[in-house]
Amino acid sequence: MIIAVDGPAASGKGTIARALARHYGLPHLDTGLLYRAVAASVLREGLAPEQEDDAVSACGFDDALLADPWLRTDEVGQIASIVSAHPLVRAALLQRQKAFAHQPGGAVLDGRDIGTVIAPDADVKLFIKATPTIRAQRRHLELRKNGVGSSLDKVLADIRARDERDSQRSEAPLVQAEDAAALDTSFLSIDAAVQRAIELVERRR
Ligand code: C5P
Repeated sequence: MIIAVDGPAASGKGTIARALARHYGLPHLDTGLLYRAVAASVLREGLAPEQEDDAVSACGFDDALLADPWLRTDEVGQIASIVSAHPLVRAALLQRQKAFAHQPGGAVLDGRDIGTVIAPDADVKLFIKATPTIRAQRRHLELRKNGVGSSLDKVLADIRARDERDSQRSEAPLVQAEDAAALDTSFLSIDAAVQRAIELVERRR
């Protein structure tokens, strides 16, 4: 069974995808991490994220980089959203994601274009959403919990900027697949959102 979980930043898609993978005993790939690794390599090597050839040259990153907590920061997330708009960057990461999705036994992948590009044939497609204000509040609390100074206004502005870039790009924009089930987590606890996601999978598998 292939489960595709798409949605914007801080919608809860990562948490839901991890929980589904555990529940069904499937391997899980957080595809945002791949774009974050490209972004981190660009930053480290002093390259220009807006330049497609610079960003492409960072696609051969060492997999050890995927474990670096720095990748999870908003600084890297913003650059990830810039490098991910380049068609050649998406092309460079395509096969790895398709192969992961189509491994024997199935998989859970979360990202922006899993149901539309990586696995249009997925058995179940979920589109996770929440209002920008609620997503910003979650991210703000998470940053403060981790001892990172944060301003709610700045986090909200960053989320809106990333939504805009991810939805407006011409290549694989963030969009709900026609056959995806939408799940709005705005007013759900984590447990309730996971429970609802399992119900949707059970209904559609
Ligand atoms: O999901 P996450 O916030 O880690 O993703 C970081 C960035 O990577 C996103 O803002 C988006 O621009 C890009 N991304 C993408 N396609 C995916 C996953 C992430 O373009 N499948």
